[in-house]
Amino acid sequence: MKQYDVIVIGAGAAGLFCAAEAAKRGRKVQVLDHAKRLGGKILMSGGGRCNFTNMYASPENFLSDNPHYCKSALSRYTQWDFIGLVAEYGIAYHEKTLGQLFCDNSAKDILNLLLKECEKAGAAITSQCEIIDIDKVSSGYTLQTNKGEYQCESLVVATGGLSIPKLGASPFGYKIAEQFGLTIKPTRAGLVPFTLHEHDKTVLAELSGISLDARASCNNTSFNENILFTHRGLSGPAVLQISSFWQPGEHVEFDLFPNGDLLEELTQSQQQSPDSLLATALSKHFPKRYVQTALPYLGLDNKPLKQFQGKQLEQVSTAFHQWQLKPNGTEGYRTAEVTLGGVDTNQLSSKTMMAKDVERLFFIGEVVDVTGWLGGYNFQWAWSSAWVAGQNV
Ligand code: FDA
Repeated sequence: MKQYDVIVIGAGAAGLFCAAEAAKRGRKVQVLDHAKRLGGKILMSGGGRCNFTNMYASPENFLSDNPHYCKSALSRYTQWDFIGLVAEYGIAYHEKTLGQLFCDNSAKDILNLLLKECEKAGAAITSQCEIIDIDKVSSGYTLQTNKGEYQCESLVVATGGLSIPKLGASPFGYKIAEQFGLTIKPTRAGLVPFTLHEHDKTVLAELSGISLDARASCNNTSFNENILFTHRGLSGPAVLQISSFWQPGEHVEFDLFPNGDLLEELTQSQQQSPDSLLATALSKHFPKRYVQTALPYLGLDNKPLKQFQGKQLEQVSTAFHQWQLKPNGTEGYRTAEVTLGGVDTNQLSSKTMMAKDVERLFFIGEVVDVTGWLGGYNFQWAWSSAWVAGQNV
């Protein structure tokens, strides 16, 4: 039997950071992960450069059934604390856009930081460890695994969400929560591309590779970033962001000319060049290939501007400012960046991350019902929740 003060299940962002913090306090820590390769999601994140935090991270950037839950952790271990640690390790980074901080070189820098922190503090890590059974005993928890029996006082569940199963994602954390009587808020894929109904898919696939500035809106929430047409459907930052707010069957509205007034532009073109075709006028503002496909798709005639009378130009403008699209669904966990829902925060202490009714059982990171927007927020939640648990295990 291997005896530890703390066992952390999951050697991802949250698990490794929590293990290092707990070990710094002198706790004897073991991290167990079933994957062969550690930190797979970190390495894949941010296109291989890891968007490790966001300078503007605040509780408003997170979705949860209980929006207050994340406040304490985010204020106790902030983005500036993590940025300080990154700087301590001499990792070069830059702001890409909207406060999103990326490594200059590679996401490996962040994984190495976490592994070094664990090593320095003396936290042990075991990979390819399958946990078969967990029992609560008077002194804590016993774990039966393919690598023998482990015992600990405090058990931290940091098994992440369901996205990208090939990187080791599993529902194990939710199962542990249920085993100990905690409830799970329904899970679904977030930060994920939309798939389209057959007609939209066939027409819009022609636009594959084109990206446009857009404001995507749904359920009183809007994001002003890019959208990207793909051969499978619709992606790009604005789409990924709004996907977390979208429910099946709903429309998403796209303003495809978010930073101007298209009616004003078209009216001006009509006055200056009345014989110009609508497509020519629109091509000043959108890629030509997009205009060619969009006009018939939106039911608009490509005729000389002088032939648009009365409210007709307004209708053209509205078709671009308020494009209504009903997605067929999403690409699901196969490509989603995060899992919405998870362990119900009403049953956890926001001060310690411990289950309120289960002594010394902690949940951190993405397995919890706290989901960030796109832009480094999900890693910040991993760091903040892990740090808090690390001080309390
Ligand atoms: P994480 O998923 O990192 O770790 C969970 C660990 O638990 C894994 O190592 C897994 O193997 C292990 N595990 C699971 N089941 C187990 C079991 N049964 N037994 C033992 N171990 C088990 N976020 C962000 O802020 N900036 C970004 O740039 C990106 N980019 C990005 C790209 C892609 C492609 C994805 C899929 C996701 C992102 N994210 C992101 C999201 C971010 O990666 C994610 O929110 C964090 O990694 C969550 O950290 P956790 O430690 O909670 O889970």
